[in-house]
Amino acid sequence: MSRKINSVAVLGGGTMGAGIAGLCAERDCKVLLLDVSLEVAEKALERIVGGRPPALDTPEKAANITLGTLEDDLEKIADYDWICEAVIEDLATKQALFARIEKVRKVGSVVSSNTSGIPLRDIIEGLPDTLAADIAITHFFNPVKVMRLMELVPSDKTTPDVMEAFSDFCGGTLGKGVVYAKDTVNFIGNRIGCFWMLMGLHRANVALNQGVDMETIDALMSTPVGLPPTGLYGLVDLIGLDVMDFVGKNLALNLPKFDLGEGFTDFPASVQALFDRGQLGRKTGGGFYRVQKLDDGSKKKETFDLKSGDWRPTKSITLKKEHRDLTVLLADDPLGWLAWDLMGETLLYAAGLLPQIADDIVNIDRAMRWGFAWTNGPFQMLDALGPLKVIEKLEAMEGELPKMLKVLQDSGETHFYRNEGAEYLGLDGAYHPVPGE
Ligand SMILES: NC(=O)c1ccc[n+]([C@@H]2O[C@H](COP(=O)([O-])OP(=O)(O)OC[C@H]3O[C@@H](n4cnc5c(N)ncnc54)[C@H](O)[C@@H]3O)[C@@H](O)[C@H]2O)c1
Repeated sequence: MSRKINSVAVLGGGTMGAGIAGLCAERDCKVLLLDVSLEVAEKALERIVGGRPPALDTPEKAANITLGTLEDDLEKIADYDWICEAVIEDLATKQALFARIEKVRKVGSVVSSNTSGIPLRDIIEGLPDTLAADIAITHFFNPVKVMRLMELVPSDKTTPDVMEAFSDFCGGTLGKGVVYAKDTVNFIGNRIGCFWMLMGLHRANVALNQGVDMETIDALMSTPVGLPPTGLYGLVDLIGLDVMDFVGKNLALNLPKFDLGEGFTDFPASVQALFDRGQLGRKTGGGFYRVQKLDDGSKKKETFDLKSGDWRPTKSITLKKEHRDLTVLLADDPLGWLAWDLMGETLLYAAGLLPQIADDIVNIDRAMRWGFAWTNGPFQMLDALGPLKVIEKLEAMEGELPKMLKVLQDSGETHFYRNEGAEYLGLDGAYHPVPGE
């Protein structure tokens, strides 16, 4: 059966539901937006049109959106091609809603959950087979209008035509970068990105105790390695320690046994102390950094020094020339070792996650570029460093080669991509064409 999406029923008009509804309406789709009460749905529409930033660029297109409640208007979803669930991250709530959806949606419609961490196999457990065949996870990133990544995750029951319908609509009409992920904890972007952050907080803590500044760590973990200027502490401030705590607990529950991330699902003590007193990040006026407005109108940036446990003026850091690009990862000096500990270990982690979280390196590289704004994905970074040099370093450290480095070594090849990025090295040790974006 070929399915086509022209209309969308979004269930839940919070941060993500409002973003998805706004983007679909902007692209001329008919949208039904249902929430717990009409008042809550109206508030969602206000944010879609007037939020900062608004989810819609063209306010008149709000006319594409019809509002209603989950209680009284659910049967109206029968007129819509895609039923997109974006309610709170709670398995029982989602399952109860899907059971009701299945009774009223039209035959041929496709269904998705926007969950960021609940496995699809848990969501469909006990639900009818008809739903299991028609449902996938469509994992958008916040803000939906801005972030290019959309991870598409099937269960082992999702049919190919359903995947095709989501891929065509989200990649075509909505203009998203669709990445194919497996039904594993945190999918691709957050699995690797949260490992980088949680492992990073622990490794950085060791460096702080050896006298390295937080600002130096952030300077290293930004432009030199092709990551956004927020660095490590700045990004955690943006996301919030409350969200990181939630993510860590979910990882602790769902990571496979012996995963490297198992050692990093909580915070180091000094960061836990911030969390405990509600110093969560930008949303609470400051976390690791804060910006103070002075009486004369100027602004002063301050750092919460994790070692002294107090605020101090933020230092401006100029890294030495040899630490200003990706080769810092192989530099044989204290900052090089630190950069390797934070970023190099993350590249190795990613290289060990195939085929567990994705079928190929292209999906992993795209997820990190489109979802975390990395200039290059992990395998592109390994290529830039020279995978053989990385293998040499690992062998000198008597470290075990992660899966994809082993594949590369066994295949006798030197890089993960060739032919100017047009072909990638597969798990089978052969090159394959990179699919169009
Ligand atoms: N916020 C993000 O950055 C982000 C990113 C990707 C995925 N997600 C996922 O998207 C989903 C929605 O997250 P969000 O950030 O928009 O949350 P949110 O808290 O902003 O919105 C949740 C929505 O659920 C509704 N709701 C509350 N209780 C309900 C109930 N008992 N039954 C039905 N609806 C109820 C609320 O009215 C609200 O519209 C979650 O599964 C979340 O994990 C969030």
